[in-house]
Amino acid sequence: MATRRRTLLKVIVLGDSGVGKTSLMNQYVHNKFSQQYKATIGADFVTKELQIGDKLVTLQIWDTAGQERFQSLGAAFYRGADCCALVYDVNVAKSFDSLETWHEEFLKQASPADPKTFPFIVLGNKVDIGGGSTRVVSETKAADWCASNGNIPYFETSAKEDYNVDEAFFTIAKTALANE
Ligand code: GTP
Ligand code: MG
Repeated sequence: MATRRRTLLKVIVLGDSGVGKTSLMNQYVHNKFSQQYKATIGADFVTKELQIGDKLVTLQIWDTAGQERFQSLGAAFYRGADCCALVYDVNVAKSFDSLETWHEEFLKQASPADPKTFPFIVLGNKVDIGGGSTRVVSETKAADWCASNGNIPYFETSAKEDYNVDEAFFTIAKTALANE
């Protein structure tokens, strides 16, 4: 009998504190959302099994701390990553400006074989707030940044309203699988 090969994909989620990294993961894996903010300390992962084509994939999603004082990750942590998800809050300009730093930091630490083709994905989260009235980063601005950084796929999400969360993580899995 043929044994099905199971593929483990390591995904690292980075972004400023409070943008909703933990909330996106909780919505994706547990279908839960909490209004309460509890800072992530260090790093922890959750897993989700999914079927992509004829492949059974285990997505290992690593949550990280946006707050600098809670960051304690060395290069070893980043190595072996198959995809990096960069998250910002569409209502907070600074969190968008930080994408550049997170992107560079990841490449520096993970030092992938080919930095130009390493799969990233960008998520613009909290699009639900104020029906868009408090938004400061336009979809065009974000898409432009993604285009000029190696055509990174871009998703607008809401962890609160479960908008585009499955779609975003499915794309993360597909991109990671392609790079495996
Ligand atoms: P650190 O762990 O400090 O890096 O923060 P984080 O990026 O993990 O943010 P977290 O998921 O803890 O969310 C921060 C706050 O924003 C919490 O109060 C969440 O309830 C809220 N939040 C997260 N996502 C959304 C969203 O899509 N919409 C709204 N309205 N609030 C959200
Ligand atoms: Mg967190």
